[in-house]
Amino acid sequence: MNILHVSCSPLGQAAESHRLSQRIVGFLLAREPGATVTNRVIGDGTIPHVDENYAIAQQSTADPSQEGSIALSEELIQEVERADFVVIGTPVHNFTVPSALKAWIDLVVRARRTFDVTKDGKIGRLRDRPVYVAVASGGRYSGERARQPDFLTPYLKAVLGVVGLRDLTFFSVQGTASGPDAVAEAKASADQAVQDHFHSMCFTDRLRPVFAIAVLSN
Ligand SMILES: Cc1cc2nc3c(=O)[nH]c(=O)nc-3n(C[C@H](O)[C@H](O)[C@H](O)COP(=O)(O)O)c2cc1C
Repeated sequence: MNILHVSCSPLGQAAESHRLSQRIVGFLLAREPGATVTNRVIGDGTIPHVDENYAIAQQSTADPSQEGSIALSEELIQEVERADFVVIGTPVHNFTVPSALKAWIDLVVRARRTFDVTKDGKIGRLRDRPVYVAVASGGRYSGERARQPDFLTPYLKAVLGVVGLRDLTFFSVQGTASGPDAVAEAKASADQAVQDHFHSMCFTDRLRPVFAIAVLSN
């Protein structure tokens, strides 16, 4: 089993979203101790914006040069393809995903590689698999005490759905800019939600359809 852990905060290992996503990885590893974890750290700005060649390739059916953004895109896509589970740890920046995660998305959501454009719209090419998203935000964006819009959740659902990733589960620690008691409560509540999710989940049931497809195709 392969787990891809994408860590998107500029705060790195000190980030709340990293802590929560690491906790999710921990539960997956507890179920599958032999699993391989690929840590893709992007919050430090290591993913550049797409280059000119990449932008041209998105508009053209000709085979693009395999250098620059296309090469990095290929590397990132193959990490997703190899993963049985994708875990994303991300803060909210200005109501949505941080630019580091947007740069990753721009390289993974690629025409004629991870999705096709058809007369009926965009059709994903990737096999669906569970994607866990651990979110940290200074304020609240859901529930009765929300005071800001949430563009992160619908955006990730829409854009990852384009490539075929629809099995998304969100956990969040909201209100990290509040007082220490409120933050402690938010963290405990998020940790409990993660724990409840994995304790109530039957892994064999989730994996059975994948196994059935593997048997049929052999
Ligand atoms: C550039 C920037 C923009 C931010 N915008 C928002 C925002 O729109 N809404 C919000 O609730 N918090 C916002 N925050 C606060 C972060 O979401 C908050 O500090 C969060 O806990 C950071 O998570 P992390 O520790 O995983 O990086 C912003 C922080 C930064 C640095």
